[in-house]
Amino acid sequence: MGVAGAPKVHDADAWKPRLAQGIDTLIATVKTGKGAMPPGGMCTDCTDEDIKKAIGFMSK
Ligand code: HEM
Repeated sequence: MGVAGAPKVHDADAWKPRLAQGIDTLIATVKTGKGAMPPGGMCTDCTDEDIKKAIGFMSK
């Protein structure tokens, strides 16, 4: 929903510059947290593959 400045789900334009960083960089960012995003995106048992799929879902 774009909580606290987060890129909105299915807002491809908002995600384009973020995806340009490369999926491995984004996975690392999600794990450490960024700005108002908590480490792991609040998911404590997500694998890298889970995070990758979530990013794929959110960015299309
Ligand atoms: C598994 C769940 C989540 C995934 C996979 C995820 C993924 C991402 C990714 C890939 C970015 C872009 C980072 C970048 O531009 O380098 C992002 C940004 C952000 N997310 Fe999440 N997120 C998740 C959950 C959450 C939650 C729960 C919140 C808020 C409570 C949140 C808030 C934010 C915010 C505020 C940003 C913008 C950070 C900034 O540019 O300073 N995210 N998220």
